[in-house]
Amino acid sequence: MKVRYSYLKQQFSNADQLWKNLKNFVSTGDFTLGKELLKFEKKFARLIGAKYAVGVNSGTDAIKLSLKVIGVNQGDEVITAANTFVATVGAICELGAKPIFVDCDDTFCMNVNLIEKKITSKTKAIVPVHFTGYMTDMIKLNKISKKYKIPIVEDACQSILASQNKKNAGTYSDFGAFSLHPLKNINVWSDGGIIVTSKKKYYEKLKLLRNHGLINRDSVKICGYNSRLDTLQAVVGNWLIPKSKSIARQRIKNANYYDQNLSRIKQIKIPPRLKNFKIVYHLYIVFAEKRDELLKYCLRKGIEAKIHYPLPMYRQPAMKFLNHKVGDFPITDKHAKSIISFPCDQHLSKKEMNYVIKCVKDFYSKI
Ligand SMILES: Cc1ncc(COP(=O)(O)O)c(C=O)c1O
Repeated sequence: MKVRYSYLKQQFSNADQLWKNLKNFVSTGDFTLGKELLKFEKKFARLIGAKYAVGVNSGTDAIKLSLKVIGVNQGDEVITAANTFVATVGAICELGAKPIFVDCDDTFCMNVNLIEKKITSKTKAIVPVHFTGYMTDMIKLNKISKKYKIPIVEDACQSILASQNKKNAGTYSDFGAFSLHPLKNINVWSDGGIIVTSKKKYYEKLKLLRNHGLINRDSVKICGYNSRLDTLQAVVGNWLIPKSKSIARQRIKNANYYDQNLSRIKQIKIPPRLKNFKIVYHLYIVFAEKRDELLKYCLRKGIEAKIHYPLPMYRQPAMKFLNHKVGDFPITDKHAKSIISFPCDQHLSKKEMNYVIKCVKDFYSKI
C-alpha cells in the first residue's frame, strides 16, 4: 500500500464550480488587485477574526512586509524560533536584521520563558512561529511584548484556524502572517500569502508596500515591493474558504485517531495536547525511538513519512555568521533526532491511517 504525503490531486478533483468561477473570472480580465481579491481578503479576515486582510505573494512576504511596517531595518535584532522553516528567518534577513533564536518546547513552538534573556536594546520585533499547526503561548508572550514595548508579528503560516482560548492564531498581535502555499491547510495554486491586522493604519501601509508604494497609477508614496496576491489565486481562495473549517476539523479528527492508537506503542511519545489550544495539524508529528530506522522502514513500506526538519535552522550553513554551535538549542536538537511526521491531511482514509499505525507497530515488534 502507498500512503502519499501530498494530497493535491484529491484536493481539486471535485471542483466543477471552481472551474466555472475561473472561466468567468478570466473573461473579466480583472487580473491585478481585482474584485475577487478584495472579496477573498474580506472573507479571510472574517474567518480569522481580524478587521482587515491584505493578500501578498507568499507567506514569506507576509512576514517581511509586516516587519517592514514595524520599521525593522539593517542591524536590528528580531527574536524568533530556532526550529522554524527557513522562510521565517529569510524574511528577517532580507531586511538586513539579525535573527535571534529561542529554543522550542515539546509543543514545537518557541519556549516563551526563554525570551526575556534574549532581549537587548537592538530588539525590534518578536516573531513567534505557530509551528506545525500548534500555537505559541501568546498570552504569556503578549505580556513580555507589553513589558518591553516590542511588537510581535505572528508567523501563522502553518496555523490557519489554530487557537488559544478560542482566539485564533494571527489575532493576538497587530500582524498575523499566513501562507497559502499549495501544501498549506488553505492552499491556492501557486505561492501566496495573506496578512491580517485590525489596525487601519497598518492595513493602509501594507496595501502600499505590496504594490510598489503606489497610491494611484502615477504617485509613489513610499518604496515598496511587487508582492500582490494574484487575483486568479484569490478565486481559488474564495472557493476554499467555505471548506476551511471542515478541513481543520478533519485534520484534528485524523490526529486524534493517530494519537489514540500510536500512544499504545511504548516507543512512541505523543507531544503534549494542551487543553486550551486548538491544534490544526498542518503537520502530524510524534517522537519516536530509533527514529531513523523507523523512517526507513516506513518509506520501504510505501508510507511517505518525513522529518520537519532534520537539520535545525540555526545549524544550516546559511546561518554560519551567527556563530552558533551544536547544543545551543538543546530541545530543537533533541527534536531533530526524534521527530517523525506522518500524512494527516483531510483526504487521508481510515484504511491509510490504519496501515501507518500497523507499520509502526510491526516495526517495533521486530526489533
Ligand atoms: C513556518 C513557516 N513560515 C513561513 C513560511 C513561508 O510561507 P511561503 O512558502 O508561502 O513563503 C512557511 C512555508 O512553508 C512556513 O512553514
